[in-house]
Amino acid sequence: MALIGPSLMCADMGNLQEAVIELDRAGVDFFHLDVMDGKFVPNFTLGPDLIKRLRGFTQKPFDVHLMVEKPEDFLHLFIESGADMISVHTEATNHLQRTLQTIKDKGLKAGVAINPATPLQNIEYVLDVVDYITVMTVNPGFAGQRFVPLMNKKLQLLNEMIHEQGYTIDIQVDGNIGYSTIPDVLENGANMLVCGTSSLFKPELKLDEAVAKLRRFIHELEFTNVKGEG
Ligand code: DX5
Ligand code: ZN
Repeated sequence: MALIGPSLMCADMGNLQEAVIELDRAGVDFFHLDVMDGKFVPNFTLGPDLIKRLRGFTQKPFDVHLMVEKPEDFLHLFIESGADMISVHTEATNHLQRTLQTIKDKGLKAGVAINPATPLQNIEYVLDVVDYITVMTVNPGFAGQRFVPLMNKKLQLLNEMIHEQGYTIDIQVDGNIGYSTIPDVLENGANMLVCGTSSLFKPELKLDEAVAKLRRFIHELEFTNVKGEG
């Protein structure tokens, strides 16, 4: 069953505590926390102190998505803030393997995030150290953007690369993951869905209703896929 992870940068910033509690009760699988430094991406979002503050309101895994230059310089801040998983961008560091190994050595899950234009070859030599790969399906930095169409082909190739080489690695998709894009990304091997304004944070839906609706949609899709294969 695909995992649902709300992107908290899309929540009401004035009521993050309530949002975390409501989403936790509604049964989400993990929380996706976007961190931006204004350099790697032209925007600013959540910081370690806020993440530490939210940590007390749920036991669910915190997935910290570092969109910062030289993430190796800041890992300790997010490890101390209570992160369970940390993803760093392959485009943001000269020492990807060492940075991922450091995250693993601290007992966390290590992820590598990859921008839409970046080829899969750039992460081929860290497949043995990562627990998950975040395929950016939009250019990082902002919520509410449109899905980059060629990302479904990239997901397919990544899924093949992982299986051909005998690894078990989760594939996370991040950016415009909603009712029109979920069928294809699931079909192409994604199993961790970062859900923002395209699926969960919609003005017309309460958070618990949005999670229940999304969970039903995914369940029906996966059931149909299984039946189709049967
Ligand atoms: C963008 C972030 C995403 C974003 C998703 O850089 O990494 O997590 O918040 O928001 P939507 O679903 O609106 O694209
Ligand atoms: Zn993200």
